[in-house]
Amino acid sequence: MNELLTIDDISVSYGNIKALQNVSMHVNQGDIVCLIGANGSGKSTLLKAIVGQEPLVTGSITFDGEEICQARNSTEKIKKHKFLTTDVIVSRGIALVPEGRRVFADMTVEENLDMGAFLVRDENLILERKQAMYDFFPILGSRRKQKTRSLSGGEQQMMAIARALMSAPRMILLDEPGLGLAPLVIADIFEKIDLINKQDNVTVFLVEQNARMALKASTEGYVMENGRIVLHDASSSLLENEKVREAYLGE
Ligand SMILES: Nc1ncnc2c1ncn2[C@@H]1O[C@H](COP(=O)(O)OP(=O)(O)OP(=O)(O)O)[C@@H](O)[C@H]1O
Ligand SMILES: [Mg+2]
Repeated sequence: MNELLTIDDISVSYGNIKALQNVSMHVNQGDIVCLIGANGSGKSTLLKAIVGQEPLVTGSITFDGEEICQARNSTEKIKKHKFLTTDVIVSRGIALVPEGRRVFADMTVEENLDMGAFLVRDENLILERKQAMYDFFPILGSRRKQKTRSLSGGEQQMMAIARALMSAPRMILLDEPGLGLAPLVIADIFEKIDLINKQDNVTVFLVEQNARMALKASTEGYVMENGRIVLHDASSSLLENEKVREAYLGE
């Protein structure tokens, strides 16, 4: 299996708070991998670190065989890499759909999609990709001139995903796509995520508090507690795991 993303022994701190401690994990090309964990366990911090938004205290992150982030204190090699900014990481093929959707509320759907294509110079390619998004999410097609703030929560989540897909990523990072949405809407969104993975061959790294949905949607899962990975297994095994059932599935 081709390892697309490799996270090797990374730590991230906010002042005295150790948000991530020596986290190692990997995502294989073509897979859907999930990360579950309670509030404040460090899930969003991990995704931010992958796209270069939080500096590493230890460790490194490799995407498609190339180091994209490295701890600042680890000698020579870093000098070459320390300015790898989020837009450079996006241009390498990773797109983040941030927690809470963070759409540009005063912009229309179309303008939001244009923002997602900020690295694309070819106007025709942008038009083509927008049309592909309107075909994939018909509701966005019918609302393209509408201000984003007037969309429902589910529609905004779909727009946030579509915006990330405008950069034609090889891997998409999703931070709690189901947050605050009704079960039927969550099911819709997870169905789309599965199609993005299976039809467009986009590797998916999914962070969720909704452990049951996440484990059912994925092939492999990691469990995070207090900034550390405490379990890693096939998602089907984690669904049967007694500790997971008790702590995350409410059984
Ligand atoms: N910008 C920040 N400054 C200081 N502390 C932070 C910052 N961002 C996160 N933290 C702290 O780091 C820890 C991990 O936060 P993080 O947001 O990564 O957790 P999470 O697993 O995504 O939680 P949730 O499920 O609530 O989204 C928490 O203790 C949080 O309070
Ligand atoms: Mg979070």
